[in-house]
Amino acid sequence: MSTAEGQQAKTDTFMADMKKRLEEASKLTPEELKFSYKGILYPTILCSEETFQAMEKMEAREDDVLIVTYPKCGTNWSLQILHEMILEVNKKEPTMIKGMLEFGKPEKYEYLSQQPSPRVLATHIPCEDISKSFFEKKTKVLLILRNPKDTAVSYYHFTNKNPTLPTYESWDLFYKDYITGNVIYGSYFDYTIQWEKHIDDGNILVLTFEDMKEDLSRELRKISDFYGLALTDEQIKLVQEKTTFSSMKEKSSNTHGDLANVFFRKGEVGDWKNLFTEEQSKEVDAQFEKYLAGTKLGNMINYEKYCTF
Ligand code: A3P
Repeated sequence: MSTAEGQQAKTDTFMADMKKRLEEASKLTPEELKFSYKGILYPTILCSEETFQAMEKMEAREDDVLIVTYPKCGTNWSLQILHEMILEVNKKEPTMIKGMLEFGKPEKYEYLSQQPSPRVLATHIPCEDISKSFFEKKTKVLLILRNPKDTAVSYYHFTNKNPTLPTYESWDLFYKDYITGNVIYGSYFDYTIQWEKHIDDGNILVLTFEDMKEDLSRELRKISDFYGLALTDEQIKLVQEKTTFSSMKEKSSNTHGDLANVFFRKGEVGDWKNLFTEEQSKEVDAQFEKYLAGTKLGNMINYEKYCTF
């Protein structure tokens, strides 16, 4: 089977599975669509306690690529980047799973343990709940941050368009849950600040959605250097062309099926200004000040530039 056929077969299986899950989801109330594990809300249709327990015990590898993000900060974008980069350099697909590391059945970790390196994995679960094995093995971690206001707006549209997640009748109702950390995957601020203590570990690269929008090839070079992939300028250019918003959106009905428009919406910086009230904006400013101002991660978010009306 060719690489393209292999990719298509995996996508078809994912689509069939997703269809089943969407049917299951349509029978649940918004309350039934979420459950709590270790104090954080998760989607019932995609996650389970058994899978979390199996994931806590999973064996990491030194050469795994672990992408960590709060939802809507650029997960699919960075997954595609790593996929294209590794394919370009190795001329062979990396091991990838559809969806997040925490989705699906517990048996998936057994399957993953048998797959060849490098394995490209992504998770939204809080840093403190990630299998200790990743830290013991010093697996290289790619953390993608996005400013908290655009993240909220992206999340609002996503939760309303994705049948596996609770829907909200208005932006204001979603915003209330977002600011109190009552959304799936919990508080943006708790999530982000937990990574601050790993910032000097030496095996973490932090990029931002906004910097990637500003100059993608510059950020791609950082990823290539960090993972020792040594892409040539020509290869960086090729990967860049394949991972712009427009090229990913164009191919999204093949990669994400019915959920294409759910995952690839606008891909812009500053959309928050269309929904936030002055009062909500000030409330997020206060949260930023309390949790992230003056921290290394907080500085990287470039809050003044991206979060001022
Ligand atoms: P918007 O809803 O603001 O458009 P995630 O993959 O973590 O769920 O993040 C989804 C967000 O990333 C969406 O933001 C989506 O449009 C945006 N996105 C996906 N691919 C992108 C790309 N190649 N360039 C810019 N933004 C992208």
